[in-house]
Amino acid sequence: MTFGRLRLRNPVLVASGTFGYAREMALFVDFAKLGGVVPKTVTAAPRAGNTPPRTVETASGMLNAIGLDNDGLDHFLAHHLPYLRTLPTAVVGNIAGKTEDEFVEMAAKVHTGGQGLAALELNLSCPNVAGGTDFATDPDVTRRIVRRCRDACPDLPLVAKLTPNVTDIQKVAAAAADGGADAVSAVNTFVGMAVDWKRRRPVLGNVTGGLSGPAIKPLALRAVWRIARLKAIPIIAVGGIATLDDVMEFLVTGASAVQVGTANFYDPTASVRIVDALPDALRTLGAERVADVVGTMSP
Ligand SMILES: Cc1cc2nc3c(=O)[nH]c(=O)nc-3n(C[C@H](O)[C@H](O)[C@H](O)COP(=O)(O)O)c2cc1C
Repeated sequence: MTFGRLRLRNPVLVASGTFGYAREMALFVDFAKLGGVVPKTVTAAPRAGNTPPRTVETASGMLNAIGLDNDGLDHFLAHHLPYLRTLPTAVVGNIAGKTEDEFVEMAAKVHTGGQGLAALELNLSCPNVAGGTDFATDPDVTRRIVRRCRDACPDLPLVAKLTPNVTDIQKVAAAAADGGADAVSAVNTFVGMAVDWKRRRPVLGNVTGGLSGPAIKPLALRAVWRIARLKAIPIIAVGGIATLDDVMEFLVTGASAVQVGTANFYDPTASVRIVDALPDALRTLGAERVADVVGTMSP
């Protein structure tokens, strides 16, 4: 299947931060079955991440504040990419800059050293060190980063990963489309917190964290529906997807592809089982191809 400049074998990918750099999952997952793998975000310099505890289970959903713990882009290109490019599936790199300029410098580095990547996802859901807020809370900043990264890395399809922590995600998605993104991925985690009242302390070392898992699916569906109404850009849905029914719901709502995230932690084979079951589900709707069902939900 093709959308934007992106070509995938099927619409089921695994989400950044929930699948390591794929090596960790090799025992559980037949990579050849996946539509693609998005490895953990890399930053320009290595980062140690946040003070622990970094994850906590809540009554409905998981909170994490990993803080982009990673070994940096140079290490990714030298150590992880040579392995990733041997995988029989599409690999979508994922980068986060601390500033707009850093995003562009990283995209330029991927342009020269990122052979083997199928696309580049821009994690715009992280805080802008210069401005203090998440990049993708501001449509103008989003448009500018996408446009500049596209200029710096002209050959790779670009996916702008959006934060749901905004009043109107439609405006940010429109800006990403305007900047030349091939697709948006929606959404990253929802900011929340957990409290230990006996110790009178937040549970997470970072105080706040991002909520993910099946609990956020209705919120992600609504975000995807809002973006789909723009009819401006293909959508890769992410947020609480764990089953075939979840995937079908996102496809008819308007997503062209999906990413399985938190489900990988408790059911690493979920994505592969979904891929196996997808053709039957499409036939149930009288469709042969994914494209035939995308956005077909009645208003
Ligand atoms: C532990 C953890 C780490 C994550 N790390 C990243 C990351 O490094 N980069 C990124 O773009 N998204 C990251 N995410 C967000 C997921 O890719 C996904 O957008 C989000 O969790 C919603 O999907 P889900 O409910 O299926 O998990 C992380 C999520 C979790 C749970």
